Amino acid sequence: MQLWHFALLVSSFVASVGAQSTFTPARPPALPLAVKSPYLSTWLNAGSDGGNGGYLAGEWPVFWGNQITGWCGLIRVDGATYTWMGLPGSNTVTQTAFEYTSTKSIFTMDVGGKVEMNITFMSPITPDDFKRQSLIFSYLNVEVSSLDGNDHDVQVYADISAEWVSGDRGTTAQWDYGTTDGVAYHKVWRQTQLAFSEINQQAEWGYWYWSTDAANGMTHQSGQDTVVRGQFSSNGALTNEADTNYRAINNAWPVFGFSSNLGTVNSSPVSTLFSLGLTQDEAIQYEGSSGYGPVPSLWKSYFTTDVDAVTFFHKDFSDSSALASSFDSKVATESIAVAGEEYLTLTSLSARQAFGATQLCGTESKTYLFLKEISSDGNMNTVDVVFPAYPIFLYSNPEFLKLVLDPLFENQEAGHYPQSYAMHDLGSNYPNATGHNDGNDEAMPLEECGNMIIMTLAYAQKAGDTDYLSTHYTLLKKWVSYLIDEALYPANQISTDDFAGSLANQTNLALKGMIGIQAMSVIAKETGHTADAANYSRIAHDYINQWQTLAINKNVTPAHTTLSYGDESSHGLLYNLFADAQLGLNLVPQYVYKMQSDFYPTVANRYGVPLDTRHTYTKGDWECFAAAVASADTRDLFIKDLATWVNETPTNRALTDLYDTGSGK
Ligand SMILES: *[C@@H]1O[C@H](CO)[C@@H](O)[C@H](O)[C@H]1NC(C)=O
Ligand SMILES: *[C@@H]1O[C@H](CO)[C@@H](O)[C@H](O)[C@H]1NC(C)=O
Ligand SMILES: *[C@@H]1O[C@H](CO)[C@@H](O)[C@H](O)[C@H]1NC(C)=O
Ligand SMILES: *[C@@H]1O[C@H](CO)[C@@H](O)[C@H](O)[C@H]1NC(C)=O
Repeated sequence: MQLWHFALLVSSFVASVGAQSTFTPARPPALPLAVKSPYLSTWLNAGSDGGNGGYLAGEWPVFWGNQITGWCGLIRVDGATYTWMGLPGSNTVTQTAFEYTSTKSIFTMDVGGKVEMNITFMSPITPDDFKRQSLIFSYLNVEVSSLDGNDHDVQVYADISAEWVSGDRGTTAQWDYGTTDGVAYHKVWRQTQLAFSEINQQAEWGYWYWSTDAANGMTHQSGQDTVVRGQFSSNGALTNEADTNYRAINNAWPVFGFSSNLGTVNSSPVSTLFSLGLTQDEAIQYEGSSGYGPVPSLWKSYFTTDVDAVTFFHKDFSDSSALASSFDSKVATESIAVAGEEYLTLTSLSARQAFGATQLCGTESKTYLFLKEISSDGNMNTVDVVFPAYPIFLYSNPEFLKLVLDPLFENQEAGHYPQSYAMHDLGSNYPNATGHNDGNDEAMPLEECGNMIIMTLAYAQKAGDTDYLSTHYTLLKKWVSYLIDEALYPANQISTDDFAGSLANQTNLALKGMIGIQAMSVIAKETGHTADAANYSRIAHDYINQWQTLAINKNVTPAHTTLSYGDESSHGLLYNLFADAQLGLNLVPQYVYKMQSDFYPTVANRYGVPLDTRHTYTKGDWECFAAAVASADTRDLFIKDLATWVNETPTNRALTDLYDTGSGK
């Protein structure tokens, strides 16, 4: 197991307390805390560009967009108070270890040499259990035991601020407190609900629930941050009072606290559980086959009220932990078997983040998976953003891939998109899946036609669902006609890597089109369209033969594909080769795989292989696609460089897919 030792103490705070934590299997650029949906997405900045190195005490957790989502933890041991989360400005615990799995982030704290804390943030991933997966909630479990062999008197405190309920800190929040079925909760919301609206990417509607066990020794309080935290620090208990002066989030910052009296703590760990999440009855606006309207959150199909959902989730911790641990160990065992610990560094860090971009909506009989293009432009179900996620959907449950493609099919089959090629996304801004009736989306015609056909076949193969191919054959056939017209000599256009600019005759884009045509041949064959199958296969093979002449520079050693036809000094990641192998098409001759695999190490920089010769940046997702179809040595090089980058990048935000291979920024 690789331990990363924190050598450069960049933050004065960290330096001043001399904290030294291990980070296993790596120190991510930002540590996932509560990451479950586009709107429940809170992180701890780590990278030196503004992060403190990954220490839970000493800086505030932030939303993915970097605004603070106030979340504070205090502990009182024998009358002395320490901070374990956030920056309320008191004495802090000493973090000794951080570890993450696919669903958990676990901190170990030494509190004054007296007690140890294990603090577990768990955002469950339950691919085969949509009831649990549909809940937009996350756990925080705090375990305490004596470290020095003596008994200690311990109270644990945690609160949230109203910063979770709106992206506008000047907006008015309202709150309430209740207990149901042994669960105590603070309910906090934007007083004026703005359905389907975002400010600074945060949701402006719905209700936040911050819960704990309504057990003996639990006290609660709402009020100004300094008042509530001060009450705990001085007394080790809260007043059970509510501040009913509903006000702006930033006006005498209201916070919602719980305190748990653990009493005398010895060497047997005792724990306090908190949970936090968002309920929205209606989550999405969608234009599908039956017109335009709101779509409910899927959890509404399983629970009558939001409090039912809250209490179920809170009391489900032990079952949910078991499910999470089994998913964690599946990912761990299988990642290590494929490409070692460094691969696990990537897969386990990506899992929560990938699912955290999605939300299950609709009903049990008509379910959808909506996906937000986060930290980009906020588009919905962007086809070339679903594409890098398609491996994790196939791996965890291919149904996810169907559910994310379904609304794209429905919208276009209902005639809501006028172009002859596949739509780029389902709507310009999450949560409005309103499509593009005017055909004015960000056009990536070759890219998205290829992606739709490839991913549709990938789902059908994995799920054994040939009916799906028959159902959508007409639209798929329209898209393959576009590929047949355009894939051999791609016009000047953008690919998924739109930030790199447009270019004619892109080698990798042409390849995607050709693989799409061959994939359509398989779809035709499986659905009994024998003549189409033969036609598409003939065309795909004709094109790939020509492509080998147009796209490969054979006059250099090692030979390699160029970025665009005839630009002999250029090169790029040929990541679209992945789909040829993943679908088992065997369209592209094996020597092309070997040639690229031999070539990449000759152009690798410190943190990886550049995307292409125009820039030194790269895409981590496409590096993994290239790695998946490379020799073991080249694959391991890609994985090692990426894992090194994760550990060393100064970036202080959630795992990016776009970074510089030299500076790591
Ligand atoms: C923290 O976790 C470690 C490893 O699982 C365990 O040995 C220790 O007892 C735990 N401590 C507490 C306070 O739960
Ligand atoms: C979604 O559409 C509604 C109008 O139906 C609008 O008020 C809202 O601002 C839109 N949301 C986003 C994030 O653009
Ligand atoms: C093959 O497909 C192309 C594109 O759809 C079409 O124009 C052509 O007529 C087809 N050829 C045969 C023999 O079906
Ligand atoms: C694409 O490449 C072909 C073959 O080299 C060339 O004839 C054509 O002009 C190129 N297209 C564009 C738009 O540059």
